[in-house]
Amino acid sequence: MTGKLRLGVNIDHVATIRNARGGGHPDPVQAATTAERAGADGITAHLREDRRHISDDDIARLMTQLQVPLNLEMAATSEMLDIALRHKPHAACIVPEKREERTTEGGLNAAGGLQHLAPYVSALNDAGIRVSLFIEPERRQLEAAVSLGAPVVELHTGAYCDAIGLEQDRQFQRIADAAIAAGELGLECHAGHGLTFETVGRVAALANVRELNIGHFLIGEAIFSGLDSAIKRMRSLMDQARAERSA
Ligand code: PXP
Repeated sequence: MTGKLRLGVNIDHVATIRNARGGGHPDPVQAATTAERAGADGITAHLREDRRHISDDDIARLMTQLQVPLNLEMAATSEMLDIALRHKPHAACIVPEKREERTTEGGLNAAGGLQHLAPYVSALNDAGIRVSLFIEPERRQLEAAVSLGAPVVELHTGAYCDAIGLEQDRQFQRIADAAIAAGELGLECHAGHGLTFETVGRVAALANVRELNIGHFLIGEAIFSGLDSAIKRMRSLMDQARAERSA
């Protein structure tokens, strides 16, 4: 039995384009409401330490204007924890963050950072914010999520999306195995990073995966077909893969 697969649309790169000129256009909050109307089940936004795309004001406006849940991606820092506790989004996804990286490279080393992460996970849990950890599809990272008390993991799909041929099959298998293991360990399993129209189907077909978070490709594709159309096509590819899986 495969449950409904949710689509979280990440709007960070609408803010990247806005910030290239320093004004207010295009507005990521307007993109979020467009995404809602196009069928997004949630909106994801990453407030980075250097504020290179999403701003504090964007988070405040998303919290008041969204009808669907907000998933706040955040580094495990006291500044970000304060912001999360002030806004109380539906969910928070803890991600690794390095100033010099272009995007989130690799998953959080939860297994190697138990002591550092524990107070963040418990403060978010206590505030009723659903915590997820963005991790590599590895057993030891899943086990770390369990020991930290995080109810959700998001599996990093970047290596699968970047690979080709047999290496892509191998990377996909790591995700498939981790999704099964997550279910056995009682974790809710999400996935994301780098997903496109071409790579989404195999991940969407994994029965244990409940949510996909997709951003850069959709915002790029919106240049050619519009955001509404790009999201609807992604949604339909996800649904099709899911239906074929359960048929
Ligand atoms: N999930 C997480 C945890 C991320 O950090 C990102 C990128 O910000 C995404 C999903 C979306 O990745 P992409 O923009 O490549 O679709």
